[in-house]
Amino acid sequence: MKILGIETSCDETGVAIFDEEKGLIANQLYSQIEMHADYGGVVPELASRDHIRKTLPLIDAALKEANLTAKDIDGIAYTAGPGLVGALLVGATIARSLAYAWQVPALGVHHMEGHLLAPMLEDNPPPFPFVALLISGGHTQLVKVDGVGQYELLGESIDDAAGEAFDKTGKLLGLDYPAGVAVSKLAEQGTPNRFIFPRPMTDRPGLDFSFSGLKTFAANTINANLNAEGNLDEQTRCDIAHAFQQAVVDTIIIKCKRALQQTGYKRLVMAGGVSANKQLRADLAEMMKNLKGEVFYPRPQFCTDNGAMIAYTGFLRLKHGEHTDLSVSVKPRWAMTDLPEIA
Ligand code: KG4
Ligand code: ZN
Repeated sequence: MKILGIETSCDETGVAIFDEEKGLIANQLYSQIEMHADYGGVVPELASRDHIRKTLPLIDAALKEANLTAKDIDGIAYTAGPGLVGALLVGATIARSLAYAWQVPALGVHHMEGHLLAPMLEDNPPPFPFVALLISGGHTQLVKVDGVGQYELLGESIDDAAGEAFDKTGKLLGLDYPAGVAVSKLAEQGTPNRFIFPRPMTDRPGLDFSFSGLKTFAANTINANLNAEGNLDEQTRCDIAHAFQQAVVDTIIIKCKRALQQTGYKRLVMAGGVSANKQLRADLAEMMKNLKGEVFYPRPQFCTDNGAMIAYTGFLRLKHGEHTDLSVSVKPRWAMTDLPEIA
């Protein structure tokens, strides 16, 4: 079985082909990041228009990469939500139309389930059950995972997602959107403990997160440390980035440890854009070593949005006999816990 996967939920057009026997046989990605950088964030209408331009050429490129033609494809998976409605509609319309023309089943895939299952594409995939930490630009969630579709939400952010906090704080530090990687680069040059940011919601029980206060704390710290010219000197910029990143990382680690203790599970799976963060990976590895557990993550290119995770997730569900009807419908808001279980 060969499944074509299409991802268009936000600012990346991803197309990939997953083959039941050979695994991932094509992976194409076009990032719109440069186009949105001038505006300081994703402009939904521009995102939709660009997905229209890029999706079909990327499908052609993926078929070519895998040395296949349309006749070899057995099913199509597309991101149906959550995400930007216009962007989702582009992928859904193209996927549905091709499925109709090619006479194959199609299925709308949940973007966060795609992120959650992305580590399964690696050589050492995590066995069930595990705790998943999903940290992207739009989501911060801790999920108890007992199998595909067997999800229990343990906690989530009550305001900004972790990636959003990186992006907003990065903007205050004068960095372009999306600022996650750039903040972590500045943080590498930072002096530890010159500034101490709060670890929000760690002093009370529970597994929810709150990151919006960190951006305010960053704004206040910046204002209090401007030099005579009204700017931040370079070292202070790095020190603030360092203090911010350490606060996010420590907070996430405290909550992950709690989630593992609460479930009694020994395996942690981390996915979503922020899981590419080096400090977070290093500190989590250390914590898991102390707990005698194991941590799994996708390769960096599959931490951020991509078509491979959608092709793979679609493959699991289409193989199981699931598909959706011919209408083009998307779900900009969609709880992962509503997904059906695969026995
Ligand atoms: O999963 P993703 O590609 O898109 C969403 O579904 O949101 O995640 C993008 C987010 C952005 O907020 C970006 O700044 C953040 O992930 N990010 C990082 C790093 N790489 C990407 N944040 C911190 N450190 C990184 N190395
Ligand atoms: Zn994502």
